[in-house]
Amino acid sequence: MSMSVIGTGRMGKGLVKILSQAVPNLMWGSRAPDRARMYIQENDFHGVEAVDTETALDADIIVHALWFRDLIPWAHQYEEHLKGKILIDIVNPFTDDFHDFILDWGTSAAEELQKKLPDTRVVGAFKNTFFKVFDQPLHQGVPSDVYVTSDDEEAKSTVIELLQGIPFRVMDAGLLQNNRTIERMTLFERELAVRYGHYPYVSFRLFGQDEEA
Ligand SMILES: NC(=O)c1ccc[n+]([C@@H]2O[C@H](COP(=O)([O-])OP(=O)(O)OC[C@H]3O[C@@H](n4cnc5c(N)ncnc54)[C@H](OP(=O)(O)O)[C@@H]3O)[C@@H](O)[C@H]2O)c1
Repeated sequence: MSMSVIGTGRMGKGLVKILSQAVPNLMWGSRAPDRARMYIQENDFHGVEAVDTETALDADIIVHALWFRDLIPWAHQYEEHLKGKILIDIVNPFTDDFHDFILDWGTSAAEELQKKLPDTRVVGAFKNTFFKVFDQPLHQGVPSDVYVTSDDEEAKSTVIELLQGIPFRVMDAGLLQNNRTIERMTLFERELAVRYGHYPYVSFRLFGQDEEA
């Protein structure tokens, strides 16, 4: 299965850093592929190819790292390219001041994206992982959780399997509608991390499971 990351922002960079360690021949798509190429050289990302957005959309599994305000127009623009693909969604639909949600209680960004792209299999992941965590994924030797959601069981299993090699605990988090909670958890964790002075190095780990990850 081929994979790409779209976007050279904070999350795009962090995702490429982590995924390039587990996924061979990762593509990194950008509106400015030269920028991606420069970051690849600067950071010594092995096996990563900088490409334009259209080429990145040829992958079977695509992770976007766009803001919600840009995501829905982007999904509209690339609807045809995205048909039949697995699209990993990392968006948290916050207001610009990060104090609230821009969607109603009864929905989530992941569900809105799936509604917009009915022929694409949307899988939510990495919504609670702040970008600094990719630089140091283990905190005191312990990995944090990535909650993986989808209404398509096969797509969700494929992504969970693909992510097994990364230094996170990857968990089946159920249906897309759970993102109503998961996305709001990010707002809450951000507030706590700011209050306790360690933002943006913050992520979640659910306590109580027996097995080591
Ligand atoms: N920041 C975090 O810690 C964090 C944590 C969890 C989830 N998230 C989610 O991750 C997403 C990205 O956050 P970020 O902090 O990485 O943002 P960012 O640094 O501002 O990066 C956003 C990137 O989107 C890309 N992009 C592609 N198409 C675009 C378009 N049509 N218009 C505008 N930008 C476009 C741009 O990359 P190119 O210029 O290369 O095209 C841009 O660098 C958000 O949805 C956020 O909710 C963020």
